Amino acid sequence: MRQAGRYMPEYRALRQRHTFLEVCHTPEVAVEASMMPVDMLGIDGAIIFSDILIPLEAMGMPLEFDEGKGPILGEPIRHASDIERLKAFDANVETKFLPDAVRLLKQQLNGRIPVLGFAGAPYTLACYAVEGKTARHYGKTKAFMLTDPAGFRRLLDRLADAAADLLVAQVEAGAELVQLFDTWAGDLMPDEFRAFALPFAAKVIERVRKTGCPIVYFVNGVGGKLNDIRQAGADVLGIDWRVSLADVRREVGDSAVLQGNLDPCTLYAPPSVIAQRVRDVLAENGRGPHIFNLGHGILPDVPVAHARALVEAVKTFSGSA
Ligand code: CP3
Repeated sequence: MRQAGRYMPEYRALRQRHTFLEVCHTPEVAVEASMMPVDMLGIDGAIIFSDILIPLEAMGMPLEFDEGKGPILGEPIRHASDIERLKAFDANVETKFLPDAVRLLKQQLNGRIPVLGFAGAPYTLACYAVEGKTARHYGKTKAFMLTDPAGFRRLLDRLADAAADLLVAQVEAGAELVQLFDTWAGDLMPDEFRAFALPFAAKVIERVRKTGCPIVYFVNGVGGKLNDIRQAGADVLGIDWRVSLADVRREVGDSAVLQGNLDPCTLYAPPSVIAQRVRDVLAENGRGPHIFNLGHGILPDVPVAHARALVEAVKTFSGSA
């Protein structure tokens, strides 16, 4: 989940000097942002600073991050005939800044902690390509999906290739674990998830697993879809906070690797409450392998001291200090 961001005064200062996309496009600056939470929070892995929308920009969609409004993509893809407008790109050419940033981050960390890469999953990328922004219901996306399923699958297939290329480029540059974010796939009906999210996420996961790099598949909203999500073939399942980790553990068994699932809003609570919630998550997980994390991205206005309290509590109560 997000590590650097607006909750950090150092990041806000960096953003006074550079636009969001400048940070993404400039390896030295992206690495500066990636390094911020490393010492400040004491985390066990460093996420490369980038965004899931970078491949859509590389495919020719004009991308802007409007202050406070989130991302805006121009010329959205609303019909199958629009798909031809998406350009093919080489992850090591048009988005060379990303593998370059991974290499530089790895060099700076010098083996202290692993570098984590990421990409958006095909369905979630399609949501942005079709709507052109973060939406409430993804109605235009679902209208495309329901009106022209074959055309929509062609779009998903193009996005799966783009996401896989981008992940493989990060792995080749030295990323030691990657995460595939399916932020909006939890919002699909289970049948639709099986038809439009799962097969395309599975295609990306298969390509990454051939490199030998482990991959996390995170669907925001696993409730009711856990068994389908497992079919995607990832090494680790990311779990949001709306489900009990104890229930998930009972269903998947003690050998599955889980990640999550603290509610990001827990970081608004005082440190004593954060510590208690950390113990609850650890207890619910039980003995199985588990990567402690929030159940979704960190919110922009949480106190840094609370993020630090979370990391400390995890280290204390999981015995990993
Ligand atoms: O250091 C890190 O943790 C970098 C990580 C990171 C970013 N985006 C940077 C970012 C990651 C892992 C992402 C993924 C991402 N981006 C997702 C999937 C994860 C999720 O949250 O579900 C999505 C859907 C996006 C698209 C996106 N990018 C949105 C909707 C927004 C606006 C959100 C907001 O809070 O305004 C962004 C902007 C963004 N991406 C920021 C950061 C640090 C805030 C940008 C800023 O104003 O500086």
